[in-house]
Amino acid sequence: YIGTITIPVVVNILEDPAHPVTQAHIDSQIAILNADFNNNNPNTDGVPSEFADLVADTEITFTLAAINRKASITSEWGTRDAMKLVSEGGIDATDPTNYLNIWVCEIGGGILGYAQFPGGTLATDGVVIGSDYFGENAAGGVYGHGRTTTHEVGHWLNLRHIWGDGRCRQDDFVADTPSSDGANYGCPSYPTVNCKSNDMTMNYMDYVDDNCMYMFSNGQNDRMRAIFATEGPRESFVQ
Ligand code: ARG
Ligand code: ZN
Ligand code: CA
Repeated sequence: YIGTITIPVVVNILEDPAHPVTQAHIDSQIAILNADFNNNNPNTDGVPSEFADLVADTEITFTLAAINRKASITSEWGTRDAMKLVSEGGIDATDPTNYLNIWVCEIGGGILGYAQFPGGTLATDGVVIGSDYFGENAAGGVYGHGRTTTHEVGHWLNLRHIWGDGRCRQDDFVADTPSSDGANYGCPSYPTVNCKSNDMTMNYMDYVDDNCMYMFSNGQNDRMRAIFATEGPRESFVQ
């Protein structure tokens, strides 16, 4: 067993003066990632007893390695990776085999964030977070508490949405997350029943409000851990 895995983080900010990203946003976001991936989210007290034994401590630690800032050339970067390339006005990734690159910019189109799964093109590897959704006390209201980054880093570590992006029979390839037929939003009451089982709505890989998502499951932890194994797509992060 590998034990604690430390992921150095490079934060690349395409600055829009109307949507400032402060040092406090950056520092709180790193703290939130560490809390969420190490079972230290205070809201986890709300996990119903049905799921209490499934709450994971992934032992993945995030450290702030560098912050890059650049004036933005656009107020709507979209989801086609332009923010990741100097040639398109963005900021090039820093050594994606050894750093998690997070780009923070105005995405537009109501998109909170998006991620690249393991095993993709190195130059675009990482996650993108909308400026209003990065860190604690961000401008994004119910999405202003840093959980978009937790969710996107979950994708970066190979997790799917818990409903598998399909109906009841579509799997997320994790056995202990109950089957569901779609995303949940807001702050659902327990139980929320879909596909004849209670949804794990409080999972970071659902679409609920930031303060209403507060667990990864043990099965998700196993799926994340697998990518760090020998020959795995993120083996290079193991010290
Ligand atoms: N919609 C985005 C995605 O699928 C992120 C959703 C994050 N949800 C949240 N409550 N912050 O990757
Ligand atoms: Zn997602
Ligand atoms: Ca499942």
